[in-house]
Amino acid sequence: MERLVIKGGTALKGEIEINGAKNAAVAILPAAILASSGECVIDNIPNIEDVHCLERILGVLGCEVEKLGENTLKINATKMTSVNACTEHGSRMRASYYFIGALLSRFKEARVDLPGGCPIGVRPIDQHIKGFEALGAKVSIEHGTISVKAEKLVGANIFFDVVSVGATINLMLAATLAEGTTTLENVAKEPHVVDVANFLNSMGADVKGAGTDVIRIKGVKDLKGCNYSVVPDQIEAGTFMIAAAATKGDVTLTNVIPKHLESISAKLIEMGVNIEEGDDTIRVFVDKQLKGINIKTSPYPGFPTDVQQPMCSLLSSVEGRSLIVETIWESRHQHVDELKKMGASIKVEGRTAIIDGTDKLTGAVVKATDLRAGAAMVIAGLIAEGSTEICSIEHIDRGYPRIEEKFKSLGANISRVQR
Ligand code: EPU
Repeated sequence: MERLVIKGGTALKGEIEINGAKNAAVAILPAAILASSGECVIDNIPNIEDVHCLERILGVLGCEVEKLGENTLKINATKMTSVNACTEHGSRMRASYYFIGALLSRFKEARVDLPGGCPIGVRPIDQHIKGFEALGAKVSIEHGTISVKAEKLVGANIFFDVVSVGATINLMLAATLAEGTTTLENVAKEPHVVDVANFLNSMGADVKGAGTDVIRIKGVKDLKGCNYSVVPDQIEAGTFMIAAAATKGDVTLTNVIPKHLESISAKLIEMGVNIEEGDDTIRVFVDKQLKGINIKTSPYPGFPTDVQQPMCSLLSSVEGRSLIVETIWESRHQHVDELKKMGASIKVEGRTAIIDGTDKLTGAVVKATDLRAGAAMVIAGLIAEGSTEICSIEHIDRGYPRIEEKFKSLGANISRVQR
């Protein structure tokens, strides 16, 4: 088993390049099967386990997948042989469900394992199913597999009951080749949703309104390959910004879109952190004592749920009381018990974490209970006195490329060991 070992206490300093967005890439790879002619050459893909799983599923479906570089893939889906994406890999991750929308759109049929992903609360897909049915598909679930089939897909008006990243993207995929126009209302506006829409348009789709509450998709006859570069990762960037602040460091992030980071920057500034924005860079540094703040997660442009766990580690180490209210997922405070092993003073009441800052976290053996909880543990380890050992780091590898190398390049004392 691999573990991360961190000796805390070093202020992070230097420059770090942010990777392409995980949550965009994991939708764009399945979307590439919509190209019935030509090849997709996709750049800025993060080198993470979730992407490797999707590459294997693409292979099972009969796509040719070629790695042109660490972050570049060429996908040729013209000779696909199967609509059955059920493999041992699919149920391990969330994004395998994007194959439902993409396969349904191109072949009017799909079989996909019900998705897995981080254990952060109930993760229903009723809004996806409602959307597929509105386009004319029949959906059935048996033995952990979802099967979707349609004679033809016809555009429809779909109003989502909850703002869902996954349902918004899946319905964009399903509607691109449907007859007529589909209107999606109450949609997610995250940067990765906009990025998937841009990718589809680069393939010849007609998707308008991504980034607003309403997306209109005019169905087209077919889609073709394209060259595309994935948007920078808002969540990886947020994680490094928080780590820089937590260690009282001075770090410049490159390959970022500062606009996508505004909700995170605003909260860091409220705590007393200095933020300097460039065109595609952001500098984070600390020159005074930081103070506690209150945070409520909400869909974009609100404070991202995926960054609240790393933020919890930072708030554990600053003066005063802070509150984190998690509104998206029902049990996304599992990292709290791990932080308490390191001396943090946190109480969870329902969806709220009440944090009383301490000036001394101490190293301990802790667990990455999910992906972003793992990032929270890394940040806590960077601040803590002594040595922290993080187990179950496969969760971290699902979403953060080369995490220890990146932190090491900023001066952190962190290594990956076999135990
Ligand atoms: N929801 C429903 N019905 C549905 C779909 C969602 O009730 O059919 C509810 C969920 O239970 C949740 C809320 O709607 O309460 C939002 O869920 P959403 O569908 O937006 O989440 P997701 O698409 O499953 C993606 C990211 C998550 C991120 C959320 C919210 C991917 C692969 N995952 O999940 O990322 O937390 O959006 O922004 O894009 C992560 O990267 O660590 C991560 C968990």
